[in-house]
This record gives sequence, C-alpha cells and structure tokens, in this order.
Amino acid sequence: MPMKNMVSLTIDGKQVTVPEGTLIVNAAKQIGIDIPVFCYHPKMEPVGMCRQCLVEVGRPVIDRATGQAVLEADGSPKIQFGSKLETACSTPVSDGMVVIGTSPKAVAGRKDILEFLLTSHPLDCPICDKGGECPLQNLTMRHGPGQSRFVYDEKMHLAKKLPLGELIYLDRERCIQCGRCVRFQDIIVNDPVIAFTNRGRGMEIFSCSEPGFDSYFSGNTTDICPVGALTTADFRFEARPWELCTTASICPHCPVGCNLSVNLRREARANGEVVIKRIMPRQNESVNEIWICDKGRFAYHYTQSKERLTQPLVRRDGELVAIGWDEALSYVAENFVHAGKNFLALASGRLSNEDLFNLSELANGLGGKSALYTHMAGGDLVAQVGVGKATNLSDLGKGSVILVVASDLKEEAPIWWLRVKQAAERGATLIVANPRHTKLERYANQVVRYPYGSEATIVLAMINTMSAKQNFPKAPKFQQGGEAVKTAAEAISAAENLIVFYGSEGIGLEASQALAQACANLLLATDHVHKVNNGLIAVWPRANDQGAWEIGYRPLSNLKEAFQQYEAVYVAGANPAGDDPSLVEAIRNAGFVVVQDLFLTETANLADVVLPAQPFTEREGTFTTGERRVQRFYPGVVRPEYKPDYAITAAISKLAGVNVEAAPLRIFNHLTAKVPAFNGINYRLLAQVSEQWPIIGRSDLYYGGTSYANAQGLGVHLSLPAQTPSLAWPQVSELNLPESMLLAVPVTILYDRGRTVISNGLLHQRIPSPYIELHPTDAQRLGFNDGAQLQFTMGDVLAKAKLHVSDQVPSGVALVPRSLGIPINSPTIIELTVV
Ligand code: SF4
Ligand code: SF4
Ligand code: FES
Repeated sequence: MPMKNMVSLTIDGKQVTVPEGTLIVNAAKQIGIDIPVFCYHPKMEPVGMCRQCLVEVGRPVIDRATGQAVLEADGSPKIQFGSKLETACSTPVSDGMVVIGTSPKAVAGRKDILEFLLTSHPLDCPICDKGGECPLQNLTMRHGPGQSRFVYDEKMHLAKKLPLGELIYLDRERCIQCGRCVRFQDIIVNDPVIAFTNRGRGMEIFSCSEPGFDSYFSGNTTDICPVGALTTADFRFEARPWELCTTASICPHCPVGCNLSVNLRREARANGEVVIKRIMPRQNESVNEIWICDKGRFAYHYTQSKERLTQPLVRRDGELVAIGWDEALSYVAENFVHAGKNFLALASGRLSNEDLFNLSELANGLGGKSALYTHMAGGDLVAQVGVGKATNLSDLGKGSVILVVASDLKEEAPIWWLRVKQAAERGATLIVANPRHTKLERYANQVVRYPYGSEATIVLAMINTMSAKQNFPKAPKFQQGGEAVKTAAEAISAAENLIVFYGSEGIGLEASQALAQACANLLLATDHVHKVNNGLIAVWPRANDQGAWEIGYRPLSNLKEAFQQYEAVYVAGANPAGDDPSLVEAIRNAGFVVVQDLFLTETANLADVVLPAQPFTEREGTFTTGERRVQRFYPGVVRPEYKPDYAITAAISKLAGVNVEAAPLRIFNHLTAKVPAFNGINYRLLAQVSEQWPIIGRSDLYYGGTSYANAQGLGVHLSLPAQTPSLAWPQVSELNLPESMLLAVPVTILYDRGRTVISNGLLHQRIPSPYIELHPTDAQRLGFNDGAQLQFTMGDVLAKAKLHVSDQVPSGVALVPRSLGIPINSPTIIELTVV
C-alpha cells in the first residue's frame, strides 16, 4: 500500500503529525485529547449529524501570488480562523492547521448542543441501564447546562419499552437520533433491519424486519448507542454497571475466538453467589475488532443452569447414583489402569489446550490412545499450511483473494463472515464456492457452483485449469471446470495473498479431509503458503478443534467399533449418543465408559461414571482459534466445589501412576515444550497487549462505545513447520445418485438446539423446529406441500421434520440442519413420507 503523506497540526496547543486525510477527532485522540462525539464512531464514516464535536479551526493564510504561507511579525504562520465552529468528526486535518476545542466559543457550542439534545431527553439516569457508562450522562456532567430553559411539559413523550425484536429493547424518549445503530446495521453488517421514521424531534427508530431486529449482530448496537435508548432484553434492569466486575474471556462457540469481557455480580437472589450478568466484546483488532455476534453475547446461560451436574455419579444396580470425588476418581483410575493399552480418551474441541494435553498425556502414560470427536477433518493440513504470524484479515484488500468453499460463514462463524465481507469491500477478490446460495455471495466477485459431493473436485479442477500455465503436476483425472472455475483460477493464480476457508457444508469426515487436501494443494501449487496473510483456515464446528489437531488429536473413522474395541473409554466434552442415537447400543455395551461433561447428556446417561466438569467462565485455559491464534481465558465465577477438565484428568492420572501436571500454567509449559507449533509461547506472552486503533474503553465511552479495551492479552499465533509439505492428491469419490433418490446433506445453522443456545429462553424464538429444505421440483415430484410434516429414517432413527420448500436448494438434495434434533453428520440417502 502506498504511504500516505504526513501532515502536522496543533490541537489545543499540542503538536501532532498524522497521515493526510485523518479526521481532527482521531488526530486529537492520538495525543490524548478527547473531543466529545455522539454520531461519530471510529468504525464508521462520519455523518456530521449531532454537532457535539464542534471546534474552532484555523488554517494558514496562503499568499495567492506566491503560494507561500503568510507570516506574522514573529515569523510564525498567520492563521485564519473560520467564523463558524466546525465538526471535528468530519473535518480532515491539513498541514499547519490549528484546532482549538477548549476556547469559550467551542465550549459554548457544545453546551448549546447538549441543551438541545436534553430538551426531549427524559434524563431518567437513575433507572436507566446505561447510567454509569453513558456518554450523554458523562458529557452532560462535563459540558451540560445546570438548568434547562425549556418547559418540561414541552418534552416529547414516546414509547419507553418497545421491543425491536426479542433481544433488543428501545426507549424512544432516550434516543438522540445519532444514527449509529442504523448505520451499523446498514453499513457494517448490511442487515438494514432498523431505520428512522418521522422527522425533527419526532424522529424514531423502528424495526422493519419480520421477525423484529432480525440480525445476528444486533447486540452490538447496544454497545455503540451513546445513550440508554437501546438495551438488551438480557441485561435490561438486571444490574447497574458500577456493581459489575469483569473478567477476560474467549467465546467458546465457534472457531473465530472472539475476545469477551464477562460482567459479574454477587447477588442476593442467587443466594449470595457471583453470577454472570452480561457478556460484552473485548477489543482484538486481529480477531473480532470490537464486535461479537448475538450467540456469543447471549448464549452463556447454560454455564449457570440449574440442570448442571453437581457431583460425580456412578452406576450401581443399573442406576446412576451420587458418590464423592475421591471414591469416583479411584474407581475410574483403577479401571483405566486395568484397560492399559485398551484405553481410549475421546475428546472434542470444546476442551481447552490444557485439557486436551492432559488427556493425551494420560492416554500415552497408560499405553492407550486419544482421539478427537468431530465430524470434520483436515486440521493436520491446516497445521502445515494454515495462517501464521502477523496474519490479520483486516489487512486483506486489493490484490488479495479469499476463497470460501463448502461453508455458510454467516451461520458457522459470523464474525469471519463480517471480516471477509469487509475485506471484499476493501477490494479483495472474493470467490464463494458452494452448491447453494449463501449470504456471503452478495460480496463475491465469483460464485462457483458444484453438486454436493464435488467439493474437492471443484478445487482440484481450479488447479488443473491453472496447470496449463504453471509448473506443477496436474491433479489426476480432474478435467477443467466451467467458466466460473476458470475465472476463479485466474484470480487465484494472480493473487498476491490467498486465504482459503473450507467448511463441512454437505460433507462428513472423509470428504472434508479430501477437501482440505485439495485446498492445501491449491495453496501449495500457487505458492501461497508460509507467508503473512496466506494460508488455509478450517471453519470448525468447535472453538478449539484446531488446538486439538495441533496437539496431535485425530478423529476415529468408526465410533461404534471404538466403543466395542476399547475396554475403557473416557469421553470428555462430547455427546456421541446425543448426536447419533445409532451409537447408543454400542455405548451401552461398552466395557467401561466415563463421561466428563457439564450436563447429564444422552452419553452420560449410559456411562459407568459421570464426572461434572466446569464451563469456560469458571476456569482458566487457552483455546486455539481457526486462525491458529492461541488465546487465554480467565476464571470469572469461582466455584471450588467443581473441577476443570484438566484437573480431573490430573487427579485420575496421579492415581493411575501417570505423571501429569495439575496447574494450567505448568500444563501449558509442558505442552509448549512438547508440541513444536507451540514452542516459545507462554502465558506471559499470551497476556501481552499493545495499543490498538481505535482507542476504546477509556472514560470517553462516547468514542468507541462500551466494548472493553483489551488489557489481558491479544494472543499469539502458532508457528508453522520449517518445511512446506509436498502436493498429495486426495482420493475423491463422486456421488452419482439416480434421479429418483434424495440425498440428505448436513448444513450448519447458528441457532441450533444445542445446550448452549437452548438454555437462554430469549433465543428460543430464533431456534427453528426441526426442518428439511427441498427444491420445489423435488417437493412437487414427491407430492409434498411447503410446511408438510415429513418423516424419514436417518441411521437407525426415525426422524420427523417440517418441509421448507426453497429454490435456493439444488434439486436432488434435502438440506438438513445439524443439531436440530435430526442426527445427521454426513450425506445420507433418505426416503420421505408425510406423517
Ligand atoms: S437508538 Fe441510540 S444509536 Fe440509535 S439513533 Fe438513537 S441514540 Fe443513536
Ligand atoms: S463469531 Fe463465533 S466466536 Fe465470535 S461471538 Fe460469535 S460465536 Fe462467538
Ligand atoms: S457531528 Fe461530530 S460527532 Fe456528531
């Protein structure tokens, strides 16, 4: 990128040099001068609507004849101040500019604007959720008039408790019409579901979507609303901001790893316990900037659910009964030792790096095996050609290409969707390859369609299209694709940077491994590996799947066999029987099964011993994001009666005679010494921060909103191996089904019936009942109407679902959302009948 010219100016007597085009408000921020704003937000273009940022601006007088600055008698440049105040949020700096924000004229201007804003503001701070962290309240105290000259009865009185949707409430009286919320929805996330209506003092926000405020990002508007007009249904009237304490955390719901602040309060109605009152974003400009999705914000109630397991259970006479920890752990250890090499630890990417490392140490110590519970593969390739140090999606723009294949990013990893959208808007070439329309396509330069089952083939076809010109072996047997493949291949060949996201839309374990290999080949063939802002990213179903692969975990091809084959199976953070009821018999008949989880899941119900674990909010640890960034999370709620996964495993290991650490720092140090990708990383490095832009989180909440500044660590990328791997062509089998058959393919949706989502009642309206989607021609051929209740067999299970007819679905397939009550993890032929 070309370097911008630098310009120097003076603000309130302080010199600053900034790039040309910088706005006065941001130049001031860089030297610690806060110019109050309401409508301006550093993540959005200025609109100059509120006039709160008025300043006096002077510019050097230029002699027309010579083009030189006119000088005063003392040799300093002569400065001409405008007769009117100017808005610091929309005025770019210029060389020699003099800005005064503290003059009586500027101060009076701000005071007047505040007085106008308050003419119709209820000033109900004592009962307002924003009170205590409200820019309007703070600025009124600092700049506002002590008394109003307006007659109270002339205030506009408007609706005070208006649900814009089930998650966000609007208090219309409090709205100062800054437009931040509308612009966020419109420009940043392109969900224009709220808008202004009416004019003047009567201007109001309303929701123009059905259902109301239909956006995955709605909660962010409550952070950037500079008053208490927008509040979340979750936090409304729940606590005052000054009563809250905060702990730093990482979102556990998807591979993005958004940085969070967990707000807590000790309260009487929870019997004096500390409880979580809300989840807020924490700034990490390389991960989530200052945003989080609504799932990350609202799906935390499961951590304090009354249904959580409270003590170990053991099966006696066929029933699970409560026992003490000591007894449970001894019993478990005894059986694990007995199993020896027939011991299997089956864990998911829900667990932290420390948990997973301890589990694999135990398995190794016993001579057994550890395996990953997942429906998606390819993490071994991501570990070799994934993204590394200094990679930041925010740096992608013109010259970069992003390929997203087999993933509906908005559903699977909403903040990645947002960041890819923004990269496309900055000029990056976006190629979306998917059998059906997804919401990312709106920003794509090229859309590549392929039939479900041909994910890897289409990527290999791209390589073959290029191989005529470039020097690498052709993928065996794959012919050049159509025009779309050719155009995509040309863009990829010419790309300065290439990031490839691959997901598991429509595929299972085996096909996702083939797809990952095809994508890795594409990166290798075009020399886009081991460079900043290049590499492969897997859109994993869980937060720490990549960490598990990096530590050495691999999935098993046949779980049924595994439960029969191993004498003892230690299942941690996974619910195979819930996801696939056809495993129930195998688990029931297995030798010795221990389940470590938060809830009495379907699998726990079949276990010999059940051990209660702790959620991410109660313990510390690290997750590795899909971008291979290791990030630390900290305990918020302290519950000594519970144990984190790593500690339970350590206690069992001790009894089993296996040497395993019990403290997270020591576990992490062992992990980093043993696993090369983690070499050199330590907790201290993970906790390091450097200043980020925009500067947020200080007392000037009017600037960036209530997102928290990051004082607890920005995380560190894992390293990549020194050698790049060589090309290896995947085994790809195409699905050639007769037309009369219907292939059910799994897709992922954000709000599913998983425990994390379902335990917040506020989200229930967003969780669909089980459904499948068919193309109209298939529905017609089969004689089904939209909305019909259908039934079909999936594995050993008889499933029921409502029919959605949609022309976005390719014909010949039935889309089946994962985790919605229908047990699907890979493509399956189904026969539908009406109930
Ligand atoms: S609701 Fe808040 S963010 Fe939206 S226009 Fe009103 S004051 Fe601004
Ligand atoms: S995008 Fe993913 S990591 Fe970020 S808040 Fe949403 S669910 Fe959590
Ligand atoms: S006009 Fe500058 S902040 Fe609103």
